[in-house]
Amino acid sequence: MGAVACGAMESAYQHHAARALLDWQIELGATEAICDAPVDRYGLPASLPKPAAAGAPAGAPAGAAAPRPAPAAPDADPVAAARAAAGAADSLEALRAALASFEGCDLRRGARNLVFADGNADASVMIIGEAPGREEDREGRPFVGRAGQLLDRMLAAIGMARDATDPAKSVYITNILPWRPPQNRDPKPDEIAMMLPFMQRHVDLVAPDIIVLMGNISCQAGLGRRGITRLRGNWTESYGKPTLPMFHPAYLLRTPYAKREAWADLLELQARLRGNA
Ligand code: URA
Repeated sequence: MGAVACGAMESAYQHHAARALLDWQIELGATEAICDAPVDRYGLPASLPKPAAAGAPAGAPAGAAAPRPAPAAPDADPVAAARAAAGAADSLEALRAALASFEGCDLRRGARNLVFADGNADASVMIIGEAPGREEDREGRPFVGRAGQLLDRMLAAIGMARDATDPAKSVYITNILPWRPPQNRDPKPDEIAMMLPFMQRHVDLVAPDIIVLMGNISCQAGLGRRGITRLRGNWTESYGKPTLPMFHPAYLLRTPYAKREAWADLLELQARLRGNA
């Protein structure tokens, strides 16, 4: 078979492969063709000049090669931008607004809602989880899925609730990441790093007596180390506050026998709040 026929076969194969991929995406529910990065179509000129072909010399006719555009300037340091935005927030509403307009974290683009916090902002206890899941993303509130329901039951067992009005009996709940990561993957170190200034400001504004870090991700962010099995139940300090690491309720759902330790930690928290720990 000649070279032309081979080329034709190859292009037919590519066509069928592309077509099969497209059909597969449509079957999965894709309804629009979009790029990896959003395009501001209002910002584009009404008609674009026909691009010159790659490598064409200056003054070459349209359709000839054009030099590649210079790479975009790298974004400003997102951690520095987060520090500036968080530091300027003088209330929880301002902090929520600062997060809502923070462009440094790409997770926001795949999320339905910003998940800021829930509970009583005067509470003595601030609980810090890791990141919203599907239910939280849908509702815009942290810990409302199965893990959240277990958390509510755990708190109720020591007479506490997120909606209690008495600060000594209520909790304030938030997450390290305010946006759901795709497929609930673990937060990446750079995502945690850019959220830390917001979290420190969040803690400063709520000013709880005690912080509870739920699970490894939360410990990694707040304490700089993981190993929840060893960390749990031992008082430490994060964000300048007395801190109790605990098993994450999602882990307890998967590992019911660990509920014994979680119960011991809840009693420890209760004793500390009563002033006898
Ligand atoms: N897990 C978390 O860490 N946070 C939530 O909000 C939900 C599940």
